[in-house]
Amino acid sequence: MPDAPVIVALDGPAASGKGTLGRRLASHFGYAYLDSGLLYRAVGWRMLREGKDPEDAAAAAIIAAELGENDLKSAELREDRVANAATIVAAHPDVRQALVGYQRGFAAKPPQGAPGAVIDGRDIGTVICPDADCKIFVDASVEVRAMRRLKELQDRGVESIYPRVLRDMEERDARDRNRPVAPLIPADDAFKLDTTDLDADAAFELAAAFIAARNKPDKS
Ligand code: C5P
Repeated sequence: MPDAPVIVALDGPAASGKGTLGRRLASHFGYAYLDSGLLYRAVGWRMLREGKDPEDAAAAAIIAAELGENDLKSAELREDRVANAATIVAAHPDVRQALVGYQRGFAAKPPQGAPGAVIDGRDIGTVICPDADCKIFVDASVEVRAMRRLKELQDRGVESIYPRVLRDMEERDARDRNRPVAPLIPADDAFKLDTTDLDADAAFELAAAFIAARNKPDKS
């Protein structure tokens, strides 16, 4: 029997650096990478496109249940209006429930026979894969995250101002942290990685060392 895939649960708030970190860790260890936020964004995006109110839990749950690979490809998923809709649909328990199977399936059987999976999200270490081999909770001050987000928007040529980006980030954080179902909180056994004063290389080194140490054959 081949070993069970190694699961790396990478949770944290928006613009904490976990997307970049997750891709880099996956490529370093030869694991598959899943950005679970895309699933919630895809539900939010379809709600907006179909003229539905993201607060409509029943409609959102139907869309979540019938989500397909094609829904995950649009460049519009990266837009802030879609991120906002995503945080609203993500608070509906039936939406979350509809997306559990896909995420757990990815972890149990990573695509292309990869020996492991890095899954980035908000509740991977707490709800989706509570038995994950490695749990990392990436965080940074809201001001630093807003600055990073502003730079990313400006690099893409999107006009924006810091106070607005900061306010959006605070609102999104509050919704993710305070929702009753699967709130954004670190798992008790997560390695907490604060990237406020770290660049991407330093964050990668710390996370990679943690994963390597956890996966030593003699780990207890
Ligand atoms: O990670 P990203 O910013 O793309 O996620 C968009 C939104 O989707 C988050 O603000 C959060 O509300 C929701 N989400 C979630 N659980 C996850 C991933 C994302 O609730 N595992």
